[in-house]
Amino acid sequence: MYANGMRHFIDTQDLTKEEILDIVNLSLEIKRSIRDGYYPPLMKNRTLGMIFQQSSTRTRVSFETAMEQMGGHAQYLGPGMIQLGGHETIGDTGKVLSQLIDVVMARVIEHKTVVELAQSCSIPVLNGMSDYNHPTQEIGDMCTIMENLPRGKKLEECKVVFVGDGTQVCASLGFITTKLGMHFVHYGPKAHQLNEQYKDILEGNCRVSGGTWEVTDNRDSVRGADFIYTDVWYGLYENEMPREERVRVFHDYQVNRELMSLGNIGCKFMHCLPATRGEDVTDEVADSDSSLCWEEAGNRLTAMRGLLVYFTQYQRENVPGELKRMAAKESLENFMGGRGIS
Ligand code: CP
Repeated sequence: MYANGMRHFIDTQDLTKEEILDIVNLSLEIKRSIRDGYYPPLMKNRTLGMIFQQSSTRTRVSFETAMEQMGGHAQYLGPGMIQLGGHETIGDTGKVLSQLIDVVMARVIEHKTVVELAQSCSIPVLNGMSDYNHPTQEIGDMCTIMENLPRGKKLEECKVVFVGDGTQVCASLGFITTKLGMHFVHYGPKAHQLNEQYKDILEGNCRVSGGTWEVTDNRDSVRGADFIYTDVWYGLYENEMPREERVRVFHDYQVNRELMSLGNIGCKFMHCLPATRGEDVTDEVADSDSSLCWEEAGNRLTAMRGLLVYFTQYQRENVPGELKRMAAKESLENFMGGRGIS
């Protein structure tokens, strides 16, 4: 699909179940290492370019922190700061960035922008969210779920219910849970449910993995949930709905104590954040002992570390071996020594 057989992280659908689990386990392993005081210098001398066409707290801060913790550096390329698709085509921007940095992440307004960028880049491109999906969120969420599995249950035995608007986060949660053989439900109002394109993907995943999916406005579908997840009701940015209208449309889909009580005993609450407190979730649930949303935000960092390492180290032929490095050092020292520079 991409030039030079380069692997990018645009969609978890491009990965096998085993590869996804590999990334999640790598992320959790690096997390344990750092928690115990060892910061592996796995991104030493590498630079990440962070393209943002929209604002971000978690994605921006976690990528930048991940690079610093692993010995690398990140450059923030915010809205309007580079010539992405303005004076310069997206393809040309990709070719130029490939000459200057080692890996790039992009949060884009339209999904086709990150795909076009990946098609022209000879460095890994990581999708930091588009209008179609949010794959880095998926990996972080899977880390959180793995760390909070109900006692005695395997991943494949867990039911995850997304409540409310069928946002790209809802679609992404559906992708990864069905890929891993879990049981996924989108409980939302008919006009805001996942569309046919997404449903086809869920169906395809379940046929392979043995998982199940359901998209419904039946409240009974929440029963037996191990994890109840929600997002803002109106989508951020361009799609914002006036408050009065969204409260009318989504009123029955607020995650509150009554809705949480439909889940299994010990059911956990998740939210990608930012939340609109008092709308998509009550304070009581967001701040309860059942809430994983703060831990989930922390695991964005866990996921970014794993993804950065996986997608840069995966393409090992680009990394010079020790002999090549030593020869380069000797050659540079000879050149400088010949000019009296040491
Ligand atoms: N969940 C998420 O992507 O948060 P930000 O928009 O703050 O990055």
